[in-house]
Amino acid sequence: MDSSDIEAMVTEVDETTEVGSAKRTPSRDGHLPGTEQAANGQVGPTGRPMPVFPEPQPLTSHGPARVIAMCNQKGGVGKTTTTINLGAALAEYGRRVLLVDFDPQGALSVGLGIQAHNLDVTVYNLLTERGHDVRDVIQETKVPDLHVLPANIELSAAEVQLVGEVAREQILARVLRPVLDDYDVILIDCQPSLGLLTVNALTAAHGVLIPLECEFFALRGVALLVETIEKITDRLNPRLEIDGLLATMYDGRTLHNKDIVASIVGHFGDKVFHTVISRTVKFPDATLAAEPITTYDSTHKGAGAYRQLARELVARGGAA
Ligand SMILES: Nc1ncnc2c1ncn2[C@@H]1O[C@H](COP(=O)(O)OP(=O)(O)OP(=O)(O)O)[C@@H](O)[C@H]1O
Ligand SMILES: [Mg+2]
Repeated sequence: MDSSDIEAMVTEVDETTEVGSAKRTPSRDGHLPGTEQAANGQVGPTGRPMPVFPEPQPLTSHGPARVIAMCNQKGGVGKTTTTINLGAALAEYGRRVLLVDFDPQGALSVGLGIQAHNLDVTVYNLLTERGHDVRDVIQETKVPDLHVLPANIELSAAEVQLVGEVAREQILARVLRPVLDDYDVILIDCQPSLGLLTVNALTAAHGVLIPLECEFFALRGVALLVETIEKITDRLNPRLEIDGLLATMYDGRTLHNKDIVASIVGHFGDKVFHTVISRTVKFPDATLAAEPITTYDSTHKGAGAYRQLARELVARGGAA
């Protein structure tokens, strides 16, 4: 081992920083683990040349938040996984992030170690009762600057209860208003439906991110989702835009998956993120461990993929 090797090792040790309970080690070029391969100019998994997504600039001040709804009425496409891991990656880059669990299944809350079924006050109470302070309901996670507004099964009653309310589509927007200045990004994890809760999420949002599982019927139902988004833009929330479509659970070894991504790009062009999330058992494993993949296995390529998505989102102007 010569002296330059030792110098490199010392640099690596010095650059190891704590994130929650886990460590992340920037590589020698300063990137967080798993992000070194990005932006090499070669054709990426979506069949287009992969652009450069630079490391986001540190923020000197925080807020107001840009609100993004994670939305697809199809179940099991990666909405919750993307909310947790994109949020964690943005927090690693120094952004203050609030994740809103807006699914009565409470998978986002559970996936970040919050025992939401035991909570007396959740997002449900903020929606249906007056007199609560949203800041009292928000919980911290093991990841610094990654906070959660939790939900549990009680939220399933909200859809029916809110139907008779005045301005029933704008209730979540009202709930979030007091904390907009506390965060840089707010991500809302929607349930797999286009009902009143999802309409509330889309009315509170600036952008929509649509995860699509790489499987044969990926685009089935997306036309209806786009139609719903257009109706909300027309009638309730003119600022709403589609931030992007994200291919998830991608398996590059099968031609079939490549064809599916090609057809998504054929339909939606530049709206499709260059970043693609591969299928790996590390995601369910991280959920079981109740942490984001970025801390559960910081150097795993799945962690790198969500960091790249965070950089791509910032580069596109979808987040500060
Ligand atoms: N890239 C991936 N590779 C492998 N498994 C994944 C990946 N992304 C998500 N999963 C797993 O697939 C399942 C569904 O993912 P997730 O819960 O994120 O989807 P969802 O769209 O939120 O589902 P729902 O519509 O039920 O809320 C989970 O078990 C999750 O761990
Ligand atoms: Mg979900």
